Amino acid sequence: MDKIVIKGGQALHGEVQASGAKNAALPILASALLADGTSTYRNVPDLADVATMLKVLRTMGCDAERNTETSDVCQVGVNGHITPEAPYELVKTMRASVLVLGPLVARFGRARVSMPGGCAIGARPIDQHLKGLKALGADIHLTEGYVEAQAKQLKGGTVNFDVITVTGTENVMMAAVLAKGRTVMENCAREPEVEELAKVLNKMGARIEGAGTSIITIQGVDGLKPVEHAILPDRIEAGTLLVAAAISGGDVLVKRVVPEHMDAMVEKLREAGCTLTAEGGGLRCKAPQRLEAVNITTTEHPGFPTDMQAQLMALMSVSQGTSVINENIFENRFMHVPELHRLGADITIQGHTAVVKGVKGLSGAPVMATDLRASASLILAGLRAEGRTDVSRVYHLDRGYERLERKLSGLGADIRREKA
Ligand code: EPZ
Repeated sequence: MDKIVIKGGQALHGEVQASGAKNAALPILASALLADGTSTYRNVPDLADVATMLKVLRTMGCDAERNTETSDVCQVGVNGHITPEAPYELVKTMRASVLVLGPLVARFGRARVSMPGGCAIGARPIDQHLKGLKALGADIHLTEGYVEAQAKQLKGGTVNFDVITVTGTENVMMAAVLAKGRTVMENCAREPEVEELAKVLNKMGARIEGAGTSIITIQGVDGLKPVEHAILPDRIEAGTLLVAAAISGGDVLVKRVVPEHMDAMVEKLREAGCTLTAEGGGLRCKAPQRLEAVNITTTEHPGFPTDMQAQLMALMSVSQGTSVINENIFENRFMHVPELHRLGADITIQGHTAVVKGVKGLSGAPVMATDLRASASLILAGLRAEGRTDVSRVYHLDRGYERLERKLSGLGADIRREKA
């Protein structure tokens, strides 16, 4: 298992480019199942989770590959015989594999997909995914830890989500595009990645309206065709890089971002005293002399994203004053707190709330990553901490960040990856 070693204290300067969005690439790769032929995707980030999704598709009989080791182009060929199954061994490593469920039922009339099980940050049930598929006429059985879904022909219907769910919205949307008739989905997730998936599906011949709002209507069509598409930039990676500038006292231009996808996090960085300006298709973050504590409440998009909570907590740990952080999306997304304590942070957890008292400085220490965004939070804190910080178990980081340590060292950070 690798570890990341950081010597803190370097202010970051320069330019860096955001990679393609993990949380758009995963549903979009799964959507290739809806068409016969080969779809080509550009700007696909080189991440462990993307590699897992490609493996899930290959396991079913698709030709699903990254063009070359270093290319950002992936192709998914869906021809001939597909075994509509996603095994536990793969799904347990990446719960977003469950995104093949909707396309498989819609296209092949059946699917056998392992229940994802919980993960470090929460139970993360998929009851809403199944509720939506049932509303479209799918027959769903749970046997031996697998979802068995059948439907000769899905029929349009009304789906009202009890909980706003990103992949739930995406799964049901991918099922509805081939259902007979009209589907209305209510209380949908409004994330940019949902909108991006709808854009890709419409390019394939689907008829989706309202993606990005809470009500999505879909007129089913008889078939879809393969697509060529470039994945939109990753707003969470971009936000993480902006925080790296802020926490290190630097001045960094993050290129290739969609600023309007980042309003909530940009607003919080400005509130904390940073200067953020749009520049050359990107966002520049200039750190203030003195970071101010701000309060954070995570909510569904367009609110403050839960995927940026751990990163902002690292920043707040060295800001002036006290910051109250409410995590409303996942029930166990404070696992970075005990590790930040090891670096000298002063944070108290009360249920879903963390109270962060800013301290003068942090001091480096060995810490352990527990989940994807916690890894990023510890690296950010390490950039600030005096001395050396070793972040172990960075396989968590590699799930969702494309060579983050190289991007940071390109901005002047003293950071390297070591075989642990
Ligand atoms: C997506 O996860 C993202 N992953 C997550 O990003 C992100 O944190 C999350 O949305 C929230 O924005 C991908 O897009 C691949 P949810 P998802 O369904 O869809 C509950 C990262 O760091 N819920 O929106 O799995 C659930 O328990 C990852 O990149 C149900 O109760 O999240 C949670 O409390 C982490 N029943 C809440 O809804 C369901 O059927 C939001 O979950 C589905 C969800």
